[in-house]
Amino acid sequence: MVQIRALRRVASILTTPRTPEDFLGLVNPLVSSRQLRGVVTKVVRETPDSTTIHFRPGRGWNQHAAGQWARIGVEIDGVRQWRSYSLSAAVGHDPAVTVTAIGFVSTALARDTKVGDVLFLDTPQGDFVLPEHPRPLLMLTAGSGLTPVMSMIRTLVPRRPDADVVLIHSARTRGDALFHDELLELADQFPGLQVRHWFTREEGGRRLDLSGVADLETLCPDWRERAAYACGPTDFLDAATELWQREGADGAVGDAPALTIERFAPVLLDGVGGEGGLVTFEKSDKEVEVGGDVPLLDAGEDCGVVMPSGCRMGICRSCLTPLVAGKVRDLRTGEVHGDEGELIQTCVNAAAGPVHLDI
Ligand SMILES: Cc1cc2nc3c(=O)[nH]c(=O)nc-3n(C[C@H](O)[C@H](O)[C@H](O)COP(=O)(O)OP(=O)(O)OC[C@H]3O[C@@H](n4cnc5c(N)ncnc54)[C@H](O)[C@@H]3O)c2cc1C
Ligand code: FES
Repeated sequence: MVQIRALRRVASILTTPRTPEDFLGLVNPLVSSRQLRGVVTKVVRETPDSTTIHFRPGRGWNQHAAGQWARIGVEIDGVRQWRSYSLSAAVGHDPAVTVTAIGFVSTALARDTKVGDVLFLDTPQGDFVLPEHPRPLLMLTAGSGLTPVMSMIRTLVPRRPDADVVLIHSARTRGDALFHDELLELADQFPGLQVRHWFTREEGGRRLDLSGVADLETLCPDWRERAAYACGPTDFLDAATELWQREGADGAVGDAPALTIERFAPVLLDGVGGEGGLVTFEKSDKEVEVGGDVPLLDAGEDCGVVMPSGCRMGICRSCLTPLVAGKVRDLRTGEVHGDEGELIQTCVNAAAGPVHLDI
C-alpha cells in the first residue's frame, strides 16, 4: 500500500497538472477516482421503443438491491446529461438498465448506445425494494414501470421455492410488452410466479381500470392479502393509491406496507404555478424569463446552463443549487420560500418573481 502511494506521488509529480487517473482513464475508461463509470457490454432491443443496456461498472459501484435505481450520465453534443434508471437485472448479475425512448436523453440512450460505450454512473439507491421476508406479492405495473419489478422477479422467483408472486402488467400491445417471453417462460418454469398481461389494444382500447376493484378482482382475486408493489405512469399510480385507500387496503400486509409505489416523475400540485420571473444564472452569465410552472432545472438547461441533476423529481438532491436572491415556489406543495444561500432543488422549484442562482 505504501509502495502504491509512493508510486502515485511520483506519478502525480510527473503528470501535473493532470492526475495519474486522467491518464489511466485514457487507457482504461473504468479507472477514475473522480467519476464512477461503466462500459457497455451488451445492448438488447426489447421492443420498438425500449432497449436494455448491460454494463460492467468500475471500482466504487455497489451491488444493487432488486428494485433500486441509479443515475446514468451520457454525453450528448458535448454536455453530460443525467437521468435515473431502475436496474432491471437480477441481483448478482452485471447491472443493466432498460430505457424507453420518450424524450431527449432516453431516446439517445435507447437508440444510439453501442457495446464499448462508456456511461457515467452513480451508485444504486432507492427504497422500492423487496420485503425482507417473502410473502404473497402483487406486482402491478404498466409500460416501463415493469423495469424495477423485473429485477425483483428475476432475483426472487428462481431462488425461492416459497415465492408467491402475481404480476399484472399492462401494455398497449403484446409487441410493446417488456420482457414478455421471458416472463411467460419464468411462469412456466416456476410455480411461484403467475403472469397476467393486460393488452389495451386487445381489450378494444379499454385500459386496465383501477378506478374500481372489478379488473383487479378478476385478475387477482386475493389482491387484498398480498403486499403490492406498483410502478407505472402517474395516472396509473394515482388510481392505485386511491383504490387502496378507498378499499381500506392501505394498511399493512404482515410487516410490509399494503401498497409500495415507485414513481418516475414527480407529483406536482395541480395549477400550482403562479407568477414566474427573470432567472439569472450568475456564474454562467445567462438569464431567461420563465413562467411560474417551469422548474428552474428546465429553465437553466433550456438556455444552455450545465445544471446538476439526477432523479428530476425531488428525491435525490443532486440538483441542489445555492440561491443568491429571490423567492422560489415548490411545485409539489405550492409553498413559496427562499433565503439567501439556501440550497434549492431546482427540479421541483420554479421562480416566484426574479431569482438569482449561484451557478
Ligand atoms: C427512480 C426513477 C427510475 C426510473 N427508471 C426508469 C426506467 O427503468 N426506464 C425508463 O425508461 N425510465 C425510467 N425513469 C425515467 C427517466 O429517468 C427519464 O425521466 C425518462 O427516460 C425521460 O427522460 P428524457 O430525457 O428522455 O425526457 P425529458 O425530455 O427529460 O422529459 C420527458 C418527460 O416525461 C416524464 N417521464 C419520465 N418518465 C416517464 C415515463 N416512464 N412515462 C411517461 N413520462 C415520463 C418526465 O417527468 C418528463 O416530464 C426513471 C425515473 C426515476 C426518477
Ligand atoms: S434532481 Fe433529484 S432532487 Fe432534483
